[in-house]
Amino acid sequence: MSKTPEKLKGDPETTGHSWDGIQEFNNPLPKWWVWVFYVTIIWGVIYTILYPAWPLLNSTTPGLLGWSTRANVAAEIAEVEEANAPINAKLESSELAEIIKDPELKTYAVNAGRAVFGTWCMQCHGSGAQGAKGFPNLLDNDWLWGGTLEDIHTTLAYGIRSPDNDETRFSEMPAFGRDELLEPEQIDAVANYVMSLSGEPKDASKVAEGKVVFEENCAACHGEEGTGDRAQGAPNLADAIWLYGGDYDTIVETVANSRKGVMPAWTGRLDEWQIRAVSVYVHQLGGGE
Ligand code: HEC
Ligand code: HEC
Repeated sequence: MSKTPEKLKGDPETTGHSWDGIQEFNNPLPKWWVWVFYVTIIWGVIYTILYPAWPLLNSTTPGLLGWSTRANVAAEIAEVEEANAPINAKLESSELAEIIKDPELKTYAVNAGRAVFGTWCMQCHGSGAQGAKGFPNLLDNDWLWGGTLEDIHTTLAYGIRSPDNDETRFSEMPAFGRDELLEPEQIDAVANYVMSLSGEPKDASKVAEGKVVFEENCAACHGEEGTGDRAQGAPNLADAIWLYGGDYDTIVETVANSRKGVMPAWTGRLDEWQIRAVSVYVHQLGGGE
């Protein structure tokens, strides 16, 4: 049998409950604590009335204040756009050549252009504009269609072989093999000749024959010396810089089937000030003329 412990002096009142002789002191919560608790409840109720809170089927209760993170972001964007409107207008109305002479405008264009590049161009040209097979490196001074600010702007505005733009840059290297314009032996020879322009051919005995094939079929676009023609976007074949590759197999593939790289036109997709900004950005990357 348990024995009820003696109540000592200074002990609080007991609640009168007793289990197996264990009694419960009557120790109420401190007043201040209880009040803080009530206040948090009231706060919580008010909060759910004022702010979006309770889940509904497809959304939440909107709250009386109409607060939303989406609306906040939209407002911030609108604010930035408004702040930039004058300088964007200046970018659109200035002559291209003037933009790079005005340090403030140029710095702005480069920074805005970098952001445009990161959003729209990186997927194809690489995060550092270093390019990839079929997608030109924009850091070097080897240009298919020209490296002045005007040229770059034209390329961006109208695209290259862009099917949805009437003014797009256009030229078409024939598929010499697929369309049976050349015999396989002639393609073999001309590939060796092209390799000899910047390095070692696969078979040196074919080079002389390849030169003849080149003069008759390729020089009209790539030039007598194979140094290319920017008016037709025909690459320089003598500089050891390759868009698709300079090994024998890749050259044979290019000549046999042609490539027809496509770059989208940006007019209509981007604002004119964005096209100008990214043109300035690309122009100052290293190869600008
Ligand atoms: C869908 C892929 C793709 C995207 C996106 C793209 N490009 Fe291109 N770009 C190409 C291809 C392919 C070429 C080469 C076409 C050819 O063979 O002539 C090219 C060519 C260029 C050229 C010409 C280079 C030269 O040597 O003359 C410039 C400049 C250029 N791109 C800049 C840009 C910029 C700036 C953007 C973003 C606004 C962009 N590109 C977005 C695919 C793309
Ligand atoms: C009508 C003009 C035209 C003719 C003719 C032409 N080419 Fe091209 N060639 C181009 C263009 C434009 C490109 C750019 C690639 C593309 O189509 O995207 C190119 C690309 C190439 C490339 C790829 C270069 C690289 O950097 O990877 C090679 C190699 C080449 N041509 C070789 C030849 C040879 C060899 C002939 C003759 C048998 C020839 N071309 C005839 C216009 C021409």
